[in-house]
Amino acid sequence: MIIAVTGANGGLGRSTIAALKACIPSSSILALVRSPEKAADLGVEVRSFDYDKSPEQLAQSLKGVDVLLLISSADLGKRGEQHGNVIKAAKIAGVKRIVYTSIVNADTSLLSLAEEHRETESALREAGVPFTILRNGWYAENPLHGLEGVRASGKLIRSAGNGKISFATRDDLAEAAAIVLTGTGHEGKVYELGGDTPYTMADCAAELSKHFGRDIPYADLPVEQYAGILAGVGMPAPFAQAVASWDAAASKGSLFHDGNDLRTLLGRPTVPISAVIAQVAK
Ligand SMILES: NC(=O)c1ccc[n+]([C@@H]2O[C@H](COP(=O)([O-])OP(=O)(O)OC[C@H]3O[C@@H](n4cnc5c(N)ncnc54)[C@H](OP(=O)(O)O)[C@@H]3O)[C@@H](O)[C@H]2O)c1
Repeated sequence: MIIAVTGANGGLGRSTIAALKACIPSSSILALVRSPEKAADLGVEVRSFDYDKSPEQLAQSLKGVDVLLLISSADLGKRGEQHGNVIKAAKIAGVKRIVYTSIVNADTSLLSLAEEHRETESALREAGVPFTILRNGWYAENPLHGLEGVRASGKLIRSAGNGKISFATRDDLAEAAAIVLTGTGHEGKVYELGGDTPYTMADCAAELSKHFGRDIPYADLPVEQYAGILAGVGMPAPFAQAVASWDAAASKGSLFHDGNDLRTLLGRPTVPISAVIAQVAK
């Protein structure tokens, strides 16, 4: 059986390849990447795979693939179409199951990001190829973006209010993906993958305080003000607006899921955000 992983040069892709190598022979794993020259160290067969290519071109790279992990593209606004290309290609190539990394609460989420995941989930249901949907939670690594700003300002600045977020580490999500890719009984299933313990941004600030050894309060700002700060440190204004709006959606619970699918798939407790902060905030 050949298992292929798209976006295999990315953070989640690399971690998934590593998790797969721990449970099946490397000869059964195929890395699909946009830049093959960056993938030499993966230690598995590599094929070129750019989501912008036509379904017919992509299908050439999927020859012999049994199970495909479609890791969602990072091209916001283009990825609905890109994912559609991949799903059509998988159908042409006779892939037996597609596993797709969606977003937690995709069907009800207020995050603008969720729209293209809904589109892709619908395309999967319509394609007639067996599928599994992994609705991945917000990465536990996300609150650590801009850590230099936290160090400099002495505050954790966001707009997520008291919204609880079911953070999950990339490595836990990758391990769960490997389990679903190599296991049976996952056809047609939708998994909501969040960590065992949800955190508010104030909880994250408390964790940062412990590891910095000084008080780091949480500063909850109005969305426009937070977007202005992000733009002020060089983020393109439309993206800054989008990032701030995701916080607003999180404040309304869109990134919280009260379930234990991730823990159940892993067969162990999930890695808490405190462990991620301890690693990075040294
Ligand atoms: N849950 C969350 O908190 C969260 C956060 C961020 C992103 N995400 C989503 O989860 C996905 C995986 O996360 P990640 O951490 O692995 O992201 P990442 O490290 O940014 O990796 C994204 C990968 O997608 C590849 N890619 C981009 N455009 C492509 C294209 N047109 N054709 C083929 N490959 C393309 C990139 O290839 P190159 O190496 O060639 O650039 C890169 O390897 C992201 O793409 C995004 O959809 C989720």
